[in-house]
Amino acid sequence: MASIEDIKQRLTLPVVVAPMLLVSGPELVIASCQAGLVGSFPAFNARTIPDLMAWMTRIREAVGDAPWAMNLVVLEEHNPLLPQQIELLDEFRPPIVITSLGQPHAVVQHVHAYGGLVFHDVTTMRHAQKAIEAGIDGLIAVTAGAGGHCGSLHPFTFVRQLRSIWDGTLLLAGAISDGAGIAAAQTLGADFAYMGTRFIATQESMADPEYKQLLVTQDASDLIVTDRISGLQASFLRASLTRAGLDPDQLPALRAPRQPDLPAGVRPWRDAWSAGQGIGLIHDIPTVADLASRLRAQYQGALVAN
Ligand SMILES: Cc1cc2nc3c(=O)[nH]c(=O)nc-3n(C[C@H](O)[C@H](O)[C@H](O)COP(=O)(O)O)c2cc1C
Repeated sequence: MASIEDIKQRLTLPVVVAPMLLVSGPELVIASCQAGLVGSFPAFNARTIPDLMAWMTRIREAVGDAPWAMNLVVLEEHNPLLPQQIELLDEFRPPIVITSLGQPHAVVQHVHAYGGLVFHDVTTMRHAQKAIEAGIDGLIAVTAGAGGHCGSLHPFTFVRQLRSIWDGTLLLAGAISDGAGIAAAQTLGADFAYMGTRFIATQESMADPEYKQLLVTQDASDLIVTDRISGLQASFLRASLTRAGLDPDQLPALRAPRQPDLPAGVRPWRDAWSAGQGIGLIHDIPTVADLASRLRAQYQGALVAN
């Protein structure tokens, strides 16, 4: 099995570039790995199984032995392609599989059989306990201020509580946008920073240019956290909702738990653009290589300052 120590040795910074729906594709994964970070993408971004096979072939050829990750939504009601995606794990063997929503049991068995690692997203202590029981190798603590489906717990308490029940690999997600944040995650007890929003505003991300520009010009006061777009609490740019013809202050109520009632033609993530509070630290749209160099300098500076 790939060991966490091997993975850490290969990186230039303890950073996983988080998987993001409609944002992370092969270019972002490859550029991240080439910059010495762990690149990742949601399997769902490759719309068909042949596309997914082509993406994984391309990534493997480009990054060689560098660690990369594929993200699977393990709740079948949200991901009808799950059985086929699981079959592909055996063939393409991503060194790390990131599971979100649902129970990771079945994925853990497949991934461990070929020697890979499974990291699972959690927002509560109860979910963390269940994931540990399912045999995962790493916990991703998704905290308040994160982009995507955010958590509600503050990282100071969540990471420390997780450390009282889990001495394995721990990743911290939520509003980490610079090198000081990466150092702070480690000081708290995390092994890796798990960074999403900052990497939307890079040359290699698949995000719409207008979306990237909003990340440069706006800040956390321009966000809304609501369950009315995707059915679960998630953080969105208010301007993207207005652009899609919605009033951010009067979003349609859920039809039933987890069931949004959006007007025809409006799709979460495609039309409602997500960002976390790390937006306030984004001022440009660099290449991943340039961003990684800057993060390294900031990280070293923070370590020296401490
Ligand atoms: C636009 C966007 C799309 C996301 N899509 C996914 C996804 O498909 N799967 C997933 O596990 N997490 C997803 N996330 C969450 C990220 O993987 C990560 O947890 C989060 O971005 C970290 O917080 P930060 O954005 O504040 O850095 C998404 C986040 C954003 C901003």
